[in-house]
Order: sequence, then structure tokens, then C-alpha cells
Amino acid sequence: MPCTCLRTYNEVLLTMIFKEGKMKVFSGQTALVTGASSGIGAEFARALSKAGCHLVLVARREDRLQVLKKELEESYGIKVDVIPADLSTIQGCEDLINKIDKKGLSIDILINNAGFGYEGEFISQSVERLKEMIGLNISTLTFLAKHFGGLMAKKQSGYILLTSSVGAFTPCPRIAVYDATKAYVLLFGEALNNELKKHKVKVTTLCPGATRTEFFDVAGQTLNILVKMTLMSPESVVIKSLKGLSRGKSLVIPGLLNKLTVLGLWFLPRALLAPVAKRVMF
Ligand SMILES: NC(=O)c1ccc[n+]([C@@H]2O[C@H](COP(=O)([O-])OP(=O)(O)OC[C@H]3O[C@@H](n4cnc5c(N)ncnc54)[C@H](OP(=O)(O)O)[C@@H]3O)[C@@H](O)[C@H]2O)c1
Repeated sequence: MPCTCLRTYNEVLLTMIFKEGKMKVFSGQTALVTGASSGIGAEFARALSKAGCHLVLVARREDRLQVLKKELEESYGIKVDVIPADLSTIQGCEDLINKIDKKGLSIDILINNAGFGYEGEFISQSVERLKEMIGLNISTLTFLAKHFGGLMAKKQSGYILLTSSVGAFTPCPRIAVYDATKAYVLLFGEALNNELKKHKVKVTTLCPGATRTEFFDVAGQTLNILVKMTLMSPESVVIKSLKGLSRGKSLVIPGLLNKLTVLGLWFLPRALLAPVAKRVMF
């Protein structure tokens, strides 16, 4: 029941934002969404298609992308291309770029969202899994932004959204490498926003807090009651992100509680950040 109410509330909010015309800037454009097979990425695909965007959906689970393609093409009369890809390696990233070029698709909006977490004590973690995480969360995100950002700069228009995390603002034991990848995304994204301004390319870094997706299952992370109580819906996260992106806002932290958390972290002595984060998260 609360879920249904929340969905209805978000639908109303989305409709209001559309009526205000904030999403008109995305109409008729083509958006590349990575990590579109679930969670925040799938919601980006839904909201952008509602705004009249054509889509290129990317993730490994092709069956899910095909279902989403059917849903969105039927509902909004837009065109959706599905490109299954494993983006945890540079090869996967380059193959994706080549496939998009071969199809002759011009990307106006890059939603650089695919990513995953991995919980555990650093010295016991699998090297292979860490390589995949750094490959996806950092390398692929960077090189997709480089390739499509360059093309957008030539056209003197475009939008890039990078998904970071509230975790980017603090070190956190047991998710040390994950949070560090997201800190990279935050610093990279804010600098890129400044660099690409002169080329009329808007760059937004999104820092969601805990969000109700498959993320925690994939990360192998059990949620404590405190974190459970703060979970946001992916729909709300996406509405706030697209509003920010349409305005070229450098940073979007969705939700009052997440904003207050980030603010609170500024006032904590540096030495306390890691122990406090561990206490809150685990
Ligand atoms: N949920 C949260 O609490 C939270 C908080 C802060 C930040 N974030 C960030 O939000 C982003 C989206 O995560 P989510 O919450 O929506 O989690 P999710 O539901 O697990 O979605 C992750 C997406 O990334 C894709 N992906 C994972 N590994 C991939 C690979 N090797 N190649 C290509 N695609 C891959 C997954 O698709 P396939 O498995 O089909 O490949 C899926 O579509 C991530 O960057 C995450 O770090 C999430």
C-alpha cells in the first residue's frame, strides 16, 4: 500500500514537472542509459521515454532490456535500441562505442549509471570482483564520458549524468573500494561540469543515498533497520536527477535526509568519518 501511494505521488510529481516544461529539453533527443536492466537505470529509461526521448539501453541481461524496450515503445511511441554488454572491462566499453557508431546513433544524453557495490573486509575480497568493480564504476564511466562528451562538445550541446553516491563523501570500512570509486566519480563529474560548460554540455553528478533497487543484494550487503528506514524509491531519485540535469546542476543529492547527511559530514572531524560511517551502515 505505501508503495502504491509513493508510485502515485511520483507519477503526479512527474506529470507536474512535464507540465512545467522542464523535460521538454529532452524531447526528440537520444539517450544512452547504462545499467538499464534494473533499479535507477530502468527508471531513467522510463522517465526519459515519457519525455519523448529515444533510447539506447545497455546492461548484461538482454531479456530484461527487451521487455523494457517493448513496454516503452508501446507506451510512448519512441524508438529503443538494446545493446547487451558487459561494461566491466575496457574491451566491453570499446565494443559498445563501436556498436553505437556502427548503428549511426548520435547520443545527446549520456546516463552513465551502471555500477555495483561489493561489501566485505578489503584484504579478504576477491581481486577479480574488485577489478570488475573498478572497471565498471571508474574506467568505463570515464571512457564513455570521454567519447560521447567529445562528440557533444563538437555539436555544442548535450547532457551527461554520472551516478555517484552519498558514500562518495565519506570513507566507509567494509565498502572501502566501492566508496572510493564513487568519490572518484564525484570529483571527476564536478570538474567535468566546469570543463564542458564552454562547449554547452551539461554535466550532473548524482549522489543517491540508499535506494530500493537490487543494489544491496548484488553487493552482498544486509541492511540494518536505520538504513532500511531511509530507503528512497528509484522513481524519486530519477525525477530529482532529471530536473537537475535539465538545468545543468553540477550536483544532485536527492532527498532531504541525504542532503542533511552530507551536510553533517562536513562538521565531523576527519578522523571520525570512517568509524561513524561504519556504525551507521553496519
Ligand atoms: N541503490 C542504492 O542504494 C545506490 C546508492 C548510491 C548509488 N547507487 C548507484 O546507482 C547506480 C545504479 O544502481 P542501482 O541501485 O540501480 O542497482 P541495480 O538495481 O543493481 O542496477 C545496477 C545496474 O547496473 C548494471 N550492471 C552491473 N554490472 C554490469 C556490467 N558488468 N556491465 C553492464 N552493466 C552492469 C546491471 O545490469 P546487469 O546486471 O543486467 O548487467 C543493472 O542494470 C550504481 O552506479 C550504484 O552504484 C545506488
